[in-house]
Amino acid sequence: APGNDYQAEDATISQGVVESNHAGFTGTGFVNYDNVAGSSVEFAVNAASAGPASLTFRYANGTTTDRPMSVAVNGTTVVASQSFPGTSAWTNWQEISVNATLRAGANTVKATSTTATGGPNLDRLSVGAPVDTQPPTA
Ligand code: GCU
Repeated sequence: APGNDYQAEDATISQGVVESNHAGFTGTGFVNYDNVAGSSVEFAVNAASAGPASLTFRYANGTTTDRPMSVAVNGTTVVASQSFPGTSAWTNWQEISVNATLRAGANTVKATSTTATGGPNLDRLSVGAPVDTQPPTA
């Protein structure tokens, strides 16, 4: 739902710049993380109630090299190294979801690059119902 979408270009950016030169982004642009470890985007997320939620990152990685990032919620790391693999072109945007527990009201969700290549280009965070990340059993 649009109310649960948070544009990266409106978030708090450390070591990154807002750009709009690769088509297909939502909102007015995307964040190009600097190519260093530790570059980050922090979203201010409001949750109606406490509980589990999915955090879906819309991103592009026009290289063939993974651009892993850690994901932290309210200052606590929930995924130390989430893969953001290549999407084949900077104009090809894909989504990756992780689950986390939010508290009612104000939360922070921070995605920080963990390698010297920096993060991918990040378009948006969407917050929704938790997703099933378990592989199917036989
Ligand atoms: C290119 C591309 C940028 C991207 C960068 C990178 O310069 O145009 O959008 O962020 O590569 O490798 O991080």
